[in-house]
Amino acid sequence: MTESPLHIAVIAGSVRDQRMSRSVAEWASFRAAGAGSPDGSSDGAPKVEVDLIDCAEADLPDDGGLRPGGSAASPIAARLETADAFVIVTPEYNHSYPAGLKRLIDWHYREWMFKPATILPYGVQAGLLAAEHLRGVFAELHVVTTRRIVGLTRPWEHLGPVGFTPPAPVEEAFDAALRELTWWATTLRTARRDRPYAG
Ligand SMILES: Cc1cc2nc3c(=O)[nH]c(=O)nc-3n(C[C@H](O)[C@H](O)[C@H](O)COP(=O)(O)O)c2cc1C
Repeated sequence: MTESPLHIAVIAGSVRDQRMSRSVAEWASFRAAGAGSPDGSSDGAPKVEVDLIDCAEADLPDDGGLRPGGSAASPIAARLETADAFVIVTPEYNHSYPAGLKRLIDWHYREWMFKPATILPYGVQAGLLAAEHLRGVFAELHVVTTRRIVGLTRPWEHLGPVGFTPPAPVEEAFDAALRELTWWATTLRTARRDRPYAG
């Protein structure tokens, strides 16, 4: 049976003019696009479609309009709603993740729920503190974070004319995380459809 494509939203989590997150997110999007089967039917894995959402371009409303349990729809709400899974590309800022990413999270509610996320952190020492802070935030939103995360150490040292090109072991580690993510995405998509959580 041919399944409908899995939608993975790759979120670039920083907003600085010279940010690294966009380059890492472009690389992650390329890898994610290859994570499914090419025609959506060959080995039981669905085809994957990727949407790169850049925090710097999200154009979120003023925080005066934030409401608990879901605010008015933001300009990117429909794109998050469409997603079956997320890849969160985040730097570590002062031992956590950036404020712009927290805004993007807080401006949405139902759009996150009962979906999986793989965290792709980076920093001087792999950005793991940012990743661990995100796990707690996402637990509150019923987001399942994959066991595998791929911490990138000093990714700017792998930035060249064609963008971010990490060593092969990093690609292999991220592909393994994507296999975990697509398993969760397929499983939870079925669960959301057939057995919605009643609270
Ligand atoms: C405000 C700020 C705080 C930072 N704090 C940390 C930190 O706690 N740990 C770390 O490894 N790197 C830290 N860095 C360095 C970042 O890892 C590095 O600048 C990275 O490129 C930032 O991501 P971006 O380019 O996507 O903004 C910090 C950078 C900024 C701008």
